[in-house]
Amino acid sequence: MKRAITITVNGQEHEEMVENRLLLVDFLRDVINLTGTHVGCSFEGVCGACTVHLDGVPVKSCLMLAVQADGRSITTVEGLAKNGVLSILQQSFTEHHALQCGYCTSGILMNATEFLQSNPSPSEDEIRASLIGNICRCTGYVHIVAAIKTAAQRLAATRLEVAK
Ligand code: FES
Ligand code: FES
Repeated sequence: MKRAITITVNGQEHEEMVENRLLLVDFLRDVINLTGTHVGCSFEGVCGACTVHLDGVPVKSCLMLAVQADGRSITTVEGLAKNGVLSILQQSFTEHHALQCGYCTSGILMNATEFLQSNPSPSEDEIRASLIGNICRCTGYVHIVAAIKTAAQRLAATRLEVAK
């Protein structure tokens, strides 16, 4: 059975007819062709590769139906860069070589973006704890933690500049 839904994704409204059982991650990847959000664990909710923001809050899009996001606002990894400029966190990942295959990266970026908003000055332990829901099989996390730490410092410096 199909139903009409309207979801705003990265600021753009999408009206689509979808099956009630369609997962949000499949809506993003297969219906509106935003393939930066990945599926890593066969929809078990353990790897975090499918993480997106739902009204600003990180959610695993393999654990939600698209119809549950009707009328809501989603941000995906494609929405982090503004006018072709990578976010401070994305730039930091690039500089620290915080990815290898990159399969986990979009989910980690989405999770860490919100983490740094809610905890602007995290300790290394807090950064490591924040990654508990994101599995990376390549990097050993060392460079990921370093990238998040650098991004936190740069975001703090940016806030100081703005406050001057
Ligand atoms: S694909 Fe959603 S948590 Fe793994
Ligand atoms: S970079 Fe390969 S899984 Fe994280």
